[in-house]
Amino acid sequence: MNTVYDEVFRASMTDPDGFWLAAADAIDWDVMPSIGVDASDEPFYRWFSDGRLNTCYNALDRHIEAGRGEQAALIYDSPVTDTVQRYSYRELRDRVARFAGVLTDQGVVAGDRVVVYLPMVPEAVVAMLACARIGAVHSVVFGGFAAAELAARIDDARPKVIVSASCGIEPNRVVAYKPLLDQALALSEHTVGSVIILQRPQLPVQLGDHELDWAEAERAAQPAAPVPVAATDPLYILYTSGTTGKPKGVVRDNGGHAVALRWSMANVFGIEPGDVFWAASDVGWVVGHSYIVYAPLLTGATTVLYEGKPVGTPDAGAFGRVIAEHRVAALFTAPTAMRAIRKEDPAGGLLTGHDLTSLQALYLAGERLDPDTYEWCTRTLAVPVIDNWWQTETGWPIAANPRGLELLPIKPGSPTVPMPGYKVEVVDGSGTPVDRGTEGNIVIKLPLPPGTLPTLWQDDRRYYEGYLAAFGGYYTTGDGGFIDSDGYLHILGRTDDVINVAGHRLSTGAMEAVVGAHPAVAECAVIGVHDSLKGQVPRALVVLQAGATTDPDQVIADIVAAVRAEIGPVAALKSVVVVPALPKTRSGKILRRTMRGIADGRPEAVPSTIEDPAVLETITPLLAQRQG
Ligand code: COA
Ligand code: AMP
Repeated sequence: MNTVYDEVFRASMTDPDGFWLAAADAIDWDVMPSIGVDASDEPFYRWFSDGRLNTCYNALDRHIEAGRGEQAALIYDSPVTDTVQRYSYRELRDRVARFAGVLTDQGVVAGDRVVVYLPMVPEAVVAMLACARIGAVHSVVFGGFAAAELAARIDDARPKVIVSASCGIEPNRVVAYKPLLDQALALSEHTVGSVIILQRPQLPVQLGDHELDWAEAERAAQPAAPVPVAATDPLYILYTSGTTGKPKGVVRDNGGHAVALRWSMANVFGIEPGDVFWAASDVGWVVGHSYIVYAPLLTGATTVLYEGKPVGTPDAGAFGRVIAEHRVAALFTAPTAMRAIRKEDPAGGLLTGHDLTSLQALYLAGERLDPDTYEWCTRTLAVPVIDNWWQTETGWPIAANPRGLELLPIKPGSPTVPMPGYKVEVVDGSGTPVDRGTEGNIVIKLPLPPGTLPTLWQDDRRYYEGYLAAFGGYYTTGDGGFIDSDGYLHILGRTDDVINVAGHRLSTGAMEAVVGAHPAVAECAVIGVHDSLKGQVPRALVVLQAGATTDPDQVIADIVAAVRAEIGPVAALKSVVVVPALPKTRSGKILRRTMRGIADGRPEAVPSTIEDPAVLETITPLLAQRQG
C-alpha cells in the first residue's frame, strides 16, 4: 500500500536536498540557504552551509511579529515548589533578551561556550535561548550528575561563563547545587570567567567574588538583539555517555537543527502553532533540549516545563492534573515514568480522574517500550501511544509513527518506521546487510539528515572512530535490532556498554573506573540488568583482592557511595555482588556481553573460547537474579 508516509519518505531519499530545502522554508533566515547537504568535507557532512539565521529569533521574536506575542510560550508547573507560572512569547523574549545582555556584559560573544547547570526552572530555558540569541554555545549539564562529571564537561567545553542555581529540588530532598559547582570548579583545570547564580528561596547561598546574582544582573542589563550566525555554527554541545569514562560532546548546529525540529513537530508529533506540548523530561537530556525547549518554541506552540516526578508529587495522578489544567495536546516522556505511575496506581484511576480530553497522543522514548507498558498506557489513556527511537546524537526521532503525516498501524515493541532522511539498515559484523527479521547492528546511511550531529566537540577523530569507521559510508547507532517483513524496526538494545537507567543514558565503563579504584577491589565488571521500574539498573560484580581484610559489606557500601559521589545519584548503582572470579575468554577479556545475555535471560551468547566455564556457572545464579 502506498501511504502518505511512503511518499514523503521516498521524496527524502530520492532528492534529499530538495526535500530539506523545502522544509527550510518554515524557518526565517537572514540568508536563505541554497545548498542542502554539503559533502565537501566527506564524511563530515554539513547542512545548509550558505544559510544564516538566529535560532532564538526563530523560537521567540518571529512569533511575536506574527501576532502570537500574548500567547503562552512556556508554562512552568512545579509541584515541588507549588508554583504554576505562565510566560507569554513576549515575556519570554524580553527575559531572554535581557539575560543575553547579562551574558554580553560578561564578555560572552558568538562562539563562546556557556555551561548551564540548572534545575527545571524557566531560567534554564532563558539561559539556553539567551546563548542562542548572541550566537554563544550552551552546554547544559544534568543536575543528577556529581561534581567530577560536571568538571569533565567544563574542561572539555571550556566555558567563559557558568550559569547555575543555589539548589535543585528532588521530591525527597533539596539538592544543594553550589557545593557541587564549587567542587567541580576546583577539580577542573579550565578557569571560568564568571559564575551567575540563580538564588532560589528554598536554599539561598552566599555568593563569592566572581559570582553574580542572576536577578541583580538581569535588572542591570540591557536587552540584546539576535545575532545571525552561520547555519553550520554550533548551537549547543550536549555531553552523553559513551563506552569510556570520558563523555562525548555531541555538537548541534543552528540551521539543520531548526529545520529538522520544526519539521518533526508538525509531521511526527502532529503539533501546530498554539497547541500545548509537554515533554516530561529534563532540560539536561536531549529530549529536553529538543522537545521542551526548541521544537515547541520554533513551532509557536506552548511548552510545559514540569519540575517534579510523575509520582509522589503529590500522587500518581500528577500527570493527569497537568494534562487537564494546561489542556495538553501531546505528552512525551520515558516508559519508566508510565511504569512508575502504574506501579502506584495499577487501575490508572488517579490519572484518568482528571479531564484528559485534550490529550491526542502519548509519545514514549529514551528506552525500550515494553509491550506490557504499551498496552497499559493505551488502555488507560485511550489515545495512540507512540514509541519513538533516537539518540542524543540525532536530536530527533530516527524511527517513529509519523502521526502528523498519518498514523500507521502500531505494533507493540516496535518504534514503527524510519523518519525521512534516515536510511536505516541492519548489518552483520562485517557490514553485510542481513535479511529482514534477522538481528544485527543498526546503521544509518550517510549523510544523516539535518539536525543530527555534524561531529563531536573539537574531536573529529573521535566522531569518526566512534561512529563512522566501523562500517564505511554508514553511521553506527550502537543499537542492535532487526527490520521485520513490514519494514518496521525493532530495537533490541545496545551493542556496547552503554545502559539506559530510567531513560537516562549511562556508561558502565565510567562506573567500572570508579568501582575498580576501590583499594580492596582486584577487578570488576558493571553490567545492566533488567529492572521492572527503571528498565535497566547497573549491577557491579567485584572480585576482592586476595587477602583483602576489609569487610565485604563495607566494600559494597563504599562502592555504592563512591559511584554516587563520583558520577552522581542518577547512576543509581545500588547492587554490588562480590564474586570469586569473573568469566573471561582465553585471551583474558571479561565476558561482559555473555553476562548481560544471561542477566537478560538470553544465555545463547556464551562463546566457545571461554577460559574457565566453572566461573560462569558459579556466577550465573547471581546474574539471573531479577531486580525489582
Ligand atoms: N538533580 C539531583 N538529583 C537527581 C536529579 C536531578 N536533576 N535527577 C535525579 N536525581 C537523583 C534522584 O533524586 C535519585 O536519588 P536517590 O537515589 O537519592 O533517590 C537518583 O538521582 C535516581 O533518580 P531517578 O533515576 O530519576 O529515580 P527516582 O527513583 O528518583 O525516580 C522515576 C524514578 C521513574 C520516577 C524517574 O526516573 C522518571 O520520572 N523518569 C522518567 C522521565 C525522564 O526524565 N526520562 C529522561 C529521558 S526522556
Ligand atoms: P539517549 O542518547 O540518552 O537519548 O539514549 C539513546 C539510546 O537510548 C539509544 O541508543 C537506545 O539504546 C535507547 N533508546 C532510545 N529510545 C529508544 C526506544 N524507543 N526504544 C529502544 N531503545 C531506545
